[in-house]
Amino acid sequence: MSSSFQAPKGVSEYVPPQAEALLAVRQAFAEQARLAGYGYVELAVFEDTQLFKRGVGESTDVVTKEMYTFEDRGGRSITLRPEFTAGVLRAVLEYGLHKQGLPVKVWTTGPAFRAERPQKGRYRQFYQLDLEAIGSQDPQIDAETIAIAWNWYQGLGLRQVRLLLNSLGCRECRPAYRTRLQEFLRGLDLDEATRARVEINPLRVLDDKRPEVKAQLTDAPLMADHLCAACKAHHDKVRSLLADVGIAWTDEPRLVRGLDYYTRTTYEFEHPLLGAQSGIGGGGRYDGLSEDIGGPPLPGIGFGLGLDRTLLALEAEGVQLPVPSRCQVFGVPLGETAEHKVFTLVAELRRAGIAADMAPAGKSLKSAMKSADRSGAAYAVIIGERDITAGSAQVKDLATGEQIAVPLTDLTATLLERIGR
Ligand code: HAM
Repeated sequence: MSSSFQAPKGVSEYVPPQAEALLAVRQAFAEQARLAGYGYVELAVFEDTQLFKRGVGESTDVVTKEMYTFEDRGGRSITLRPEFTAGVLRAVLEYGLHKQGLPVKVWTTGPAFRAERPQKGRYRQFYQLDLEAIGSQDPQIDAETIAIAWNWYQGLGLRQVRLLLNSLGCRECRPAYRTRLQEFLRGLDLDEATRARVEINPLRVLDDKRPEVKAQLTDAPLMADHLCAACKAHHDKVRSLLADVGIAWTDEPRLVRGLDYYTRTTYEFEHPLLGAQSGIGGGGRYDGLSEDIGGPPLPGIGFGLGLDRTLLALEAEGVQLPVPSRCQVFGVPLGETAEHKVFTLVAELRRAGIAADMAPAGKSLKSAMKSADRSGAAYAVIIGERDITAGSAQVKDLATGEQIAVPLTDLTATLLERIGR
């Protein structure tokens, strides 16, 4: 019987066996990040609300509709992080990491929170892998971040991930483009909310998925055609570096991300089998974010990869991740003296790096053997009173059913050898 409580609506949780897959994909990412020289950080799950208002942007859906904001006991306004970038930059500045050499290359992972309407692949508590490189303008870093995510997806066995790429320009070229776009949008037949959006955040309108709006946008001016020379050169360099390492992308001049801090390179990873929630990861440059949150000029780039959606993508492509076995040897003690022997054996095996478990001493042979089968172990070690008198244990190969007597003194060594360590 379950309790009278359930997890809050829309929360994504993992229990075995899916939780093992979650851990495996995180570990695979940790390795990619290490290989590229990114250090791990573990940061606050909640922050001063103003950080997100100023960082993510007052007019974004995330800030206006989706934040979990509350007053703490000291009367401060606190928000559960809806994303990681603002908090990572806050921490880099707070701990002075930017004074120890640039770029600062860090990654982190954990839950993020957005009060969205829950559906498959969209949750109120979800999990991201977040990676950021702070303090470099170099397009090489942009390509590096993309390559890290790409290698990770490929390494997991995903074959259908698509990379969509765009440039959102900079402080020099975007204002003039924004004005042009507004002029174009003001001439369209749009509902009131969208007209309001034209005035506050016109680029977001380009991203409107409704057919009646989309149809009117075919001739909209695009940022790609209005980039300044520096932004164009930057974007061309990113693309040529991606080509060098064999990463295919699609230029997506209408790609606009949901957070306001983006400049220049912006990208999304999309999975065609995930329907409405096809965005499995996204990122880009945020060259003005540091100043927006009161820091020094410090350009940055990074990405957030959705772990929940990555697991759904793996399932959709039928990829089974190899998860390490939780039990290789299962001990079955029959009686109390045997329990001491088996308990010691299990401890020795675990010290030697072999996953081992055991049944309670009071269990019948039949029910303990059932547990052994269920454990997934390759071998069961059965020790009864008679075995102890004989100075041996029964080692049963659970796949073949073959059973042999092994002297107690050789037991650990025999099992280590059989398991191949
Ligand atoms: P984002 O695109 O808002 O970017 O989120 C990144 C990824 O998190 C999405 O592509 C998606 O896979 C996943 N995600 C977002 N919301 C949900 C949700 N409600 N349920 C499940 N998965 C979700 C950012 O968060 C930026 N901070 C990324 C970044 C880092 N840009 C620069 N550095």
